[in-house]
Order: sequence, then C-alpha cells, then structure tokens
Amino acid sequence: MQAIHCHGGGKRPDLLWEATAEPPMGNHDVMLEVFATAVNRADLLQARGLYPPPPGDSPVLGLEAAGVVLKAGRQVRGWKPGDRVCALVPGGGYAERAVVHPEMLLPLPAGWSFAMGAAVPEAWLTAFSNLMLEGRLEAGETVLIHAGGSGVGTAAIQLAVLAGARVAVTAGSEPKLSGCRQLGAHIAIDYHAASFADRLAEAAGEKGVDLILDCVGGPYLADHLRLLNPDGRLVLIGVMGGRSAAIDLVHVLGKSLRIIGTRLRARPTTEKIAITREFRSRFWHLFADGRLNPVIDRVFPITAAGEAHAYVEANRNFGKVILAVRPDATAL
Ligand SMILES: NC(=O)c1ccc[n+]([C@@H]2O[C@H](COP(=O)([O-])OP(=O)(O)OC[C@H]3O[C@@H](n4cnc5c(N)ncnc54)[C@H](OP(=O)(O)O)[C@@H]3O)[C@@H](O)[C@H]2O)c1
Repeated sequence: MQAIHCHGGGKRPDLLWEATAEPPMGNHDVMLEVFATAVNRADLLQARGLYPPPPGDSPVLGLEAAGVVLKAGRQVRGWKPGDRVCALVPGGGYAERAVVHPEMLLPLPAGWSFAMGAAVPEAWLTAFSNLMLEGRLEAGETVLIHAGGSGVGTAAIQLAVLAGARVAVTAGSEPKLSGCRQLGAHIAIDYHAASFADRLAEAAGEKGVDLILDCVGGPYLADHLRLLNPDGRLVLIGVMGGRSAAIDLVHVLGKSLRIIGTRLRARPTTEKIAITREFRSRFWHLFADGRLNPVIDRVFPITAAGEAHAYVEANRNFGKVILAVRPDATAL
C-alpha cells in the first residue's frame, strides 16, 4: 500500500506518498480501506519529529480516517466488509489502509461523503470529552472557547449551543468570527484587536465565565483564573500560545477552581472507546438529521499533504482540512 512518509525533519519536512507495508492486523481488529483522513495540529508536530507516537502505535501520520471496512478479524462482531465508517485511529490515517479497534468505529450517516466522516472523530470527540465529560458544561452556563474557527472550536461551539450554554469565542480574523457567530456563538472576540479578557468581562457581565476550553495556555492563564466564576473549570487541551505561566493560587483556592488537562491521543483505548460510545449514543443521530454538521474548510489530495500542513500552520482554515486518499472521497 501507499502511505505518507516524512523526510528531512526540521521546519518543512517533505511529506511523500510512498510504498510501505500494510499495518499488522489481529483477530480483534478491523482493517479499513481509507478514503479520507484529516490534518490535526499534532500531525504538524509529529512530521517535524516533535511529537512521537505513543510506543506501539503506527509511526505513520494521521489520527482519524473514514473509509470502508475491508476485513474484520475473526473475533469482531457487528461490522462487515463494505460498511462505511469513520474512526479515531492510533496513528496511520495518512495511508491507504489503517487498522482500528472495532469499538472505535462510527457508521457514516446516510448521504455523507467520506470527507465529512473524516472531519468528525478527532475534533468532535475532543470537543465532547472536554466540554461535557471533563468540563461538565450545564445549560445556562457561559463557556469560553478559544480558536473558535479551529476544527475543535467549530465542533465545540455547536455542542455548547446545543447544551444550552452561552458561548463566547475568540478567533483571529473577522471572517472566522463571523463563521463562529453563524454556528451559534453569542459573543465573538478578535484576540488580536484588544485584551480578549477585558472585552469578555464586559460582554459576559455579571454572569461571568463558568468553563474555558483552552488551547492557548501560558499567556492567558492569569486572565483565565481572574475571569472564572466560583466552581469554574479550565480545561487545557493545547499550548499554542506558550507552555508556562505563574499562577496566583489564591484564585484557585478562593473560587474552588478546577484546572484539568487532557490529551485524547494519550488516553488508553478503553477510555477512547467509552468516549466514542457515549458520543455516539448522545449525538450521532443529530448528524444524521443535520442539527450538527462537521465544518470542512478545504480538501487536498493526500499527495499534497505538505501543502495542507502549510495551510493549517498558517492558520488559514476555518474548520477541518481534509486529505482525500481516494479521488471519490468527497462523493456523496
Ligand atoms: N488535547 C487534545 O486531546 C487535543 C485534541 C485535538 C486538538 N487539540 C488542540 O486543540 C487546538 C485546536 O486544534 P485543531 O486541530 O482544531 O486546530 P486547527 O484547526 O489547526 O486551528 C487552530 C487555530 O488556532 C488559532 N491559533 C493558532 N495559534 C494561536 C495562538 N497562539 N493563540 C490563539 N489562537 C491561535 C488559529 O486561528 P486564528 O486565525 O483564530 O488565530 C488556528 O487556525 C490545538 O491547540 C490542538 O493542539 C488538543
């Protein structure tokens, strides 16, 4: 089969579509024929050698895939060759074939392209697990979502609106802010223009902020601790702005704050299965009836994976950037 291999390391590694061995498959696994995968920030780091896959996982890039079941191991129940599915994969999505645990599979809703399926697993399971399971978002609360125009952000806005929360976002340009408003965000702040925290404090008024989904990290920590209401939760999922900061622990103590960090990729398979299962039972029907929608910015052919990485790195995407492994990835 063919898969993407990273050559050269450094800031601009070459991502080449080359022949490689098929991934090994056990009796409890499913082999997917991959039609589409998607770019994640973690892929950008992994391609430069800065974010190695967990031991034992595929060294090939790609944390999610959509395609058809090609083979199901002897112990697998409930899935058969030809089923159209998408899933988080433990690496190996940038390839013609990927091996996945059957309980991670999600059936593609009727009428969906594989590109739509590839836009869901990483962004939506990250948004769901951190807003709902870790962050315990409740109706009527105010949630702040940074990078509202990111893959995770566009999923998180929709889930938070659906949960009945008041949703505030930050993003770096007017088109992205406008896209976030269209997805239902109530407060949208350009973080380049002024102190996001002052503008948010003004916009949020007395209700304050109950939950923050934070992918920025260090530079915002002091503001976050100041903004959060008593019993507020800060869920850290990334450190795009920086990884260190001084904490005034009095805020944490005095307001009974919780600071939580998670990495979906590093979770044990049992936890990923539990997250997938709960997400499927609570939300999957809402994709089928169009109340939730994956947001796709662009589709690149897999052979242009390097270009797709540069596009994401330059912060140009609103929603997900998809890699079409087969030309019919976008067919409905
Ligand atoms: N912990 C986990 O399990 C997990 C899983 C998936 C993703 N993540 C994290 O979630 C974040 C979003 O991921 P994604 O793949 O959805 O991202 P994405 O689609 O690549 O979008 C990221 C966006 O973040 C904004 N951004 C970049 N640097 C920033 C900074 N210093 N301050 C504020 N905004 C910045 C940019 O938009 P603007 O134009 O608005 O600046 C950029 O387009 C990343 O930090 C990623 O590492 C975490």
